[in-house]
Amino acid sequence: MHAIHVENLTRLYRNGRGITGVNLQVEQGEVFGFLGPNGAGKTTLIRTMLGFMHQQSGNIHLLGLNALTQSRAIRARVGYLPSDPALYDLLTGQQNLDFALAVRGIKSRARVKELADRLEIDLKRRLKTLSRGNKQKVAIIATLAHDPDLIILDEPTSGLDPLVQEIFSSLIREEQARGKTVFMSSHVLSEVESLCDRVGVIRDGKIVTVDHVENLKKQRVKYVTVEFREKAPDLSSVPGVKDLACEGRKVRFTFHGAIDPLLGALAQGSVVDLNLSDPPLEEIFRAFYEGGGGGR
Ligand SMILES: Nc1ncnc2c1ncn2[C@@H]1O[C@H](COP(=O)(O)OP(=O)(O)OP(=O)(O)O)[C@@H](O)[C@H]1O
Ligand SMILES: [Mg+2]
Repeated sequence: MHAIHVENLTRLYRNGRGITGVNLQVEQGEVFGFLGPNGAGKTTLIRTMLGFMHQQSGNIHLLGLNALTQSRAIRARVGYLPSDPALYDLLTGQQNLDFALAVRGIKSRARVKELADRLEIDLKRRLKTLSRGNKQKVAIIATLAHDPDLIILDEPTSGLDPLVQEIFSSLIREEQARGKTVFMSSHVLSEVESLCDRVGVIRDGKIVTVDHVENLKKQRVKYVTVEFREKAPDLSSVPGVKDLACEGRKVRFTFHGAIDPLLGALAQGSVVDLNLSDPPLEEIFRAFYEGGGGGR
């Protein structure tokens, strides 16, 4: 059984925007990252999966439950953080969370307290007096308060400072270690890279790629700088070498492909210094993102 199983899902707004023919499977215990430019359809997919909007066609199963006929059971086991959480501004953080617990019939405040301590948030303050990031912390606590098996987060770290993002990341890893499944949309590639097992990219309402983060990293090119003791050997005919620039004993190039022939070619000279670095994951995603945004 998959934690998320979406088949051929289409949901179009009257203006023709939305998502079309989306297929997606997320394994139990997986942290899945969902990326795409603004207006690509991330929120639409999440809200349709959760039954807040009706699909025009397709099937959705969450935790093995049918989204159309078993939505009550799904709500009990899923935690959802919207991209614009609805909290009560005049209530304190605690009152907001008490309300979230009451709706679900949960009496114990223990988990809320534990999460509040972790996220270092003062729940005695009224929401309207809190900063955006601190409101987001309250919303994250509300999402996790009932200990859901499937956690669906729409841009969870927006508004969080880097230190709080770190705390958030460790919370997510702990949930995963406890067997929970996490599906999160994000614009922050470094967070996806460090946190997620797989990522999906959506563009113009269609999934354009789904792959393991490790595979995506392997696809990417390396930036190479080599310094030779004497004159640099000619590397221009080595397969995979591009954008070659020579400055006397130093050469710089980008490299993609099998590393062996490159090492053989470098050994033609006497190498003093060698530096291989990874371009950021952005480089790969740029290729998926380009060719038209979401059309907003
Ligand atoms: N209620 C609506 N009525 C009409 N069109 C809509 C509506 N909501 C979203 N859209 C359109 O559907 C497309 C997908 O929007 P969606 O909000 O799902 O994108 P997103 O990937 O979540 O973007 P972002 O990164 O900005 O959150 C966009 O073109 C958007 O303009
Ligand atoms: Mg969105």
